[in-house]
Amino acid sequence: MDIRAEKPEDVKAIYQVNKEAFGRENEAILVDQLRGIASTVSLVAVQSDQIVGHLFFSPVTINRHSSSQLLMLGLAPIAILPKYQRQGIGSLLIQRGLETCHQLGCDAVVVLGDPNYYSRFGFVAASTQGLRCEYDAPDDAFMVLELNSAALQDCSGTVQYRSEFKVCE
Ligand SMILES: CC(C)(COP(=O)(O)OP(=O)(O)OC[C@H]1O[C@@H](n2cnc3c(N)ncnc32)[C@H](O)[C@@H]1OP(=O)(O)O)[C@@H](O)C(=O)NCCC(=O)NCCS
Repeated sequence: MDIRAEKPEDVKAIYQVNKEAFGRENEAILVDQLRGIASTVSLVAVQSDQIVGHLFFSPVTINRHSSSQLLMLGLAPIAILPKYQRQGIGSLLIQRGLETCHQLGCDAVVVLGDPNYYSRFGFVAASTQGLRCEYDAPDDAFMVLELNSAALQDCSGTVQYRSEFKVCE
Protein backbone atom coordinates (compact mmCIF):
# COMPACT_ATOMS: atom_id res chain seq x y z
CA MET A 1 0.00 0.00 0.00
CA ASP A 2 1.47 3.30 -1.13
CA ILE A 3 0.22 6.54 0.41
CA ARG A 4 1.21 9.62 -1.58
CA ALA A 5 0.15 13.11 -2.55
CA GLU A 6 -2.42 13.47 -5.32
CA LYS A 7 -1.00 13.93 -8.84
CA PRO A 8 -2.76 15.71 -11.74
CA GLU A 9 -3.49 12.39 -13.48
CA ASP A 10 -5.34 11.09 -10.35
CA VAL A 11 -8.30 13.47 -10.68
CA LYS A 12 -10.71 11.05 -12.40
CA ALA A 13 -9.88 8.13 -10.10
CA ILE A 14 -10.32 10.32 -7.01
CA TYR A 15 -13.75 11.37 -8.26
CA GLN A 16 -14.69 7.71 -8.70
CA VAL A 17 -13.43 6.64 -5.25
CA ASN A 18 -15.49 9.36 -3.56
CA LYS A 19 -18.55 8.61 -5.65
CA GLU A 20 -18.42 4.88 -4.91
CA ALA A 21 -17.58 5.22 -1.21
CA PHE A 22 -20.38 7.70 -0.49
CA GLY A 23 -22.85 6.27 -3.00
CA ARG A 24 -23.47 9.76 -4.41
CA GLU A 25 -21.51 12.44 -6.25
CA ASN A 26 -21.63 15.33 -3.73
CA GLU A 27 -18.28 14.60 -2.04
CA ALA A 28 -16.59 13.96 -5.41
CA ILE A 29 -17.84 17.34 -6.65
CA LEU A 30 -16.69 18.96 -3.41
CA VAL A 31 -13.13 17.69 -3.91
CA ASP A 32 -13.11 19.01 -7.47
CA GLN A 33 -14.24 22.41 -6.19
CA LEU A 34 -11.69 22.58 -3.37
CA ARG A 35 -8.71 21.36 -5.38
CA GLY A 36 -6.16 24.09 -5.92
CA ILE A 37 -7.19 26.20 -2.92
CA ALA A 38 -4.27 27.22 -0.70
CA SER A 39 -3.37 25.02 2.28
CA THR A 40 -5.22 21.93 1.14
CA VAL A 41 -3.83 18.40 1.48
CA SER A 42 -4.90 15.59 -0.84
CA LEU A 43 -3.53 12.09 -0.36
CA VAL A 44 -4.29 8.87 -2.19
CA ALA A 45 -3.85 5.21 -1.23
CA VAL A 46 -2.57 3.14 -4.14
CA GLN A 47 -2.63 -0.64 -4.36
CA SER A 48 -1.41 -2.48 -7.47
CA ASP A 49 -1.46 0.80 -9.44
CA GLN A 50 -5.11 1.43 -8.51
CA ILE A 51 -6.29 4.33 -6.38
CA VAL A 52 -8.37 2.68 -3.66
CA GLY A 53 -8.60 5.49 -1.12
CA HIS A 54 -8.53 9.26 -0.88
CA LEU A 55 -8.25 11.81 1.93
CA PHE A 56 -8.62 15.57 1.77
CA PHE A 57 -8.02 18.45 4.18
CA SER A 58 -9.06 22.08 3.62
CA PRO A 59 -8.79 25.24 5.73
CA VAL A 60 -11.47 26.15 8.25
CA THR A 61 -11.80 29.40 10.15
CA ILE A 62 -12.51 30.22 13.79
CA ASN A 63 -12.89 33.27 15.99
CA ARG A 64 -9.65 34.18 17.75
CA HIS A 65 -8.82 36.60 20.50
CA SER A 66 -5.26 36.96 19.27
CA SER A 67 -3.96 38.27 15.95
CA SER A 68 -1.25 35.62 15.53
CA GLN A 69 -1.64 33.24 12.61
CA LEU A 70 -3.35 29.90 13.17
CA LEU A 71 -3.76 27.23 10.51
CA MET A 72 -6.67 24.93 11.19
CA LEU A 73 -7.68 22.27 8.66
CA GLY A 74 -10.84 20.21 8.30
CA LEU A 75 -10.46 16.50 7.54
CA ALA A 76 -13.05 15.78 4.82
CA PRO A 77 -13.84 13.85 2.87
CA ILE A 78 -12.19 10.47 3.39
CA ALA A 79 -13.25 7.70 1.06
CA ILE A 80 -12.18 4.09 0.58
CA LEU A 81 -13.56 1.98 -2.27
CA PRO A 82 -16.22 -0.32 -0.72
CA LYS A 83 -14.40 -3.57 -1.36
CA TYR A 84 -11.23 -2.20 0.27
CA GLN A 85 -12.90 -0.97 3.46
CA ARG A 86 -12.08 -2.38 6.92
CA GLN A 87 -8.56 -3.32 5.89
CA GLY A 88 -6.80 -0.47 7.67
CA ILE A 89 -6.44 1.76 4.60
CA GLY A 90 -8.49 4.61 6.05
CA SER A 91 -6.43 4.51 9.25
CA LEU A 92 -3.19 4.59 7.28
CA LEU A 93 -4.41 7.55 5.23
CA ILE A 94 -5.45 9.45 8.35
CA GLN A 95 -2.13 8.80 10.12
CA ARG A 96 -0.12 9.95 7.10
CA GLY A 97 -2.49 12.82 6.53
CA LEU A 98 -2.05 14.11 10.06
CA GLU A 99 1.74 13.85 9.71
CA THR A 100 1.55 15.85 6.47
CA CYS A 101 -0.63 18.49 8.12
CA HIS A 102 1.88 18.79 10.95
CA GLN A 103 4.76 19.17 8.50
CA LEU A 104 2.84 21.97 6.76
CA GLY A 105 2.63 23.86 10.05
CA CYS A 106 -1.02 23.09 10.71
CA ASP A 107 -1.94 23.85 14.34
CA ALA A 108 -5.12 21.79 14.64
CA VAL A 109 -7.44 19.54 12.64
CA VAL A 110 -11.21 19.24 13.00
CA VAL A 111 -13.43 16.43 11.77
CA LEU A 112 -17.15 15.69 11.75
CA GLY A 113 -17.75 11.96 11.96
CA ASP A 114 -17.96 8.82 14.06
CA PRO A 115 -16.26 9.44 17.46
CA ASN A 116 -15.44 5.74 17.84
CA TYR A 117 -13.39 5.90 14.68
CA TYR A 118 -11.66 9.27 14.98
CA SER A 119 -10.83 8.99 18.69
CA ARG A 120 -8.27 6.32 17.65
CA PHE A 121 -6.19 9.07 16.11
CA GLY A 122 -6.36 11.34 19.15
CA PHE A 123 -9.38 13.45 18.22
CA VAL A 124 -11.48 14.68 21.16
CA ALA A 125 -14.87 16.37 21.27
CA ALA A 126 -14.33 19.92 20.02
CA SER A 127 -16.81 21.18 22.62
CA THR A 128 -14.17 20.45 25.29
CA GLN A 129 -12.10 23.19 23.63
CA GLY A 130 -15.05 25.58 23.34
CA LEU A 131 -15.51 24.91 19.63
CA ARG A 132 -18.81 24.32 17.85
CA CYS A 133 -19.69 23.00 14.41
CA GLU A 134 -21.64 25.17 11.98
CA TYR A 135 -23.70 22.12 11.01
CA ASP A 136 -26.39 20.45 13.07
CA ALA A 137 -24.51 17.43 14.50
CA PRO A 138 -24.38 15.48 17.76
CA ASP A 139 -22.00 17.12 20.23
CA ASP A 140 -19.47 14.29 20.25
CA ALA A 141 -19.38 13.98 16.43
CA PHE A 142 -17.49 17.22 15.96
CA MET A 143 -13.92 16.64 17.03
CA VAL A 144 -10.57 18.37 17.14
CA LEU A 145 -6.94 17.31 17.34
CA GLU A 146 -4.27 19.78 18.38
CA LEU A 147 -1.05 19.30 16.42
CA ASN A 148 0.62 22.21 18.21
CA SER A 149 0.03 22.04 21.93
CA ALA A 150 -1.93 24.99 23.24
CA ALA A 151 -2.80 26.09 19.69
CA LEU A 152 -6.45 26.40 20.67
CA GLN A 153 -5.92 28.31 23.89
CA ASP A 154 -7.40 31.56 22.60
CA CYS A 155 -9.93 30.05 20.18
CA SER A 156 -13.65 29.69 20.71
CA GLY A 157 -16.94 29.71 18.85
CA THR A 158 -18.12 28.24 15.61
CA VAL A 159 -15.74 26.60 13.18
CA GLN A 160 -16.60 27.54 9.60
CA TYR A 161 -15.90 25.22 6.70
CA ARG A 162 -15.39 26.62 3.20
CA SER A 163 -18.58 27.58 1.40
CA GLU A 164 -17.97 24.79 -1.15
CA PHE A 165 -19.13 22.33 1.56
CA LYS A 166 -22.71 23.40 0.91
CA VAL A 167 -22.75 20.85 -1.91
CA CYS A 168 -22.75 18.11 0.77
CA GLU A 169 -25.60 19.47 2.92
C1 LIG B 1 -15.11 5.43 6.98
C2 LIG B 1 -13.99 4.88 6.10
C3 LIG B 1 -13.18 6.02 5.50
C4 LIG B 1 -13.09 4.03 6.99
O1 LIG B 1 -12.02 3.53 6.22
P1 LIG B 1 -11.58 2.00 6.37
O2 LIG B 1 -10.35 1.80 5.57
O3 LIG B 1 -12.76 1.14 6.05
O4 LIG B 1 -11.30 1.94 7.94
P2 LIG B 1 -10.16 1.13 8.70
O5 LIG B 1 -9.99 -0.19 8.05
O6 LIG B 1 -8.99 1.99 8.86
O7 LIG B 1 -10.80 0.98 10.12
C5 LIG B 1 -11.83 0.03 10.29
C6 LIG B 1 -12.65 0.43 11.43
O8 LIG B 1 -13.29 1.64 11.13
C7 LIG B 1 -14.61 1.62 11.60
N1 LIG B 1 -15.43 1.92 10.45
C8 LIG B 1 -15.19 1.62 9.18
N2 LIG B 1 -16.16 2.09 8.41
C9 LIG B 1 -17.02 2.71 9.22
C10 LIG B 1 -18.19 3.41 9.03
N3 LIG B 1 -18.77 3.56 7.80
N4 LIG B 1 -18.81 3.94 10.10
C11 LIG B 1 -18.27 3.79 11.32
N5 LIG B 1 -17.15 3.14 11.56
C12 LIG B 1 -16.53 2.61 10.53
C13 LIG B 1 -14.90 0.30 12.16
O9 LIG B 1 -14.88 0.44 13.55
C14 LIG B 1 -13.77 -0.55 11.72
O10 LIG B 1 -13.35 -1.35 12.74
P3 LIG B 1 -13.66 -2.91 12.67
O11 LIG B 1 -13.07 -3.40 11.38
O12 LIG B 1 -12.99 -3.41 13.87
O13 LIG B 1 -15.13 -3.01 12.69
C15 LIG B 1 -14.54 3.99 4.95
O14 LIG B 1 -15.29 2.95 5.49
C16 LIG B 1 -15.40 4.74 3.92
O15 LIG B 1 -14.89 5.18 2.89
N6 LIG B 1 -16.70 4.85 4.19
C17 LIG B 1 -17.63 5.52 3.27
C18 LIG B 1 -17.39 7.02 3.22
C19 LIG B 1 -17.48 7.65 4.60
O16 LIG B 1 -18.41 7.41 5.35
N7 LIG B 1 -16.46 8.48 4.93
C20 LIG B 1 -16.34 9.08 6.25
C21 LIG B 1 -17.15 10.29 6.41
S1 LIG B 1 -16.83 10.97 8.03
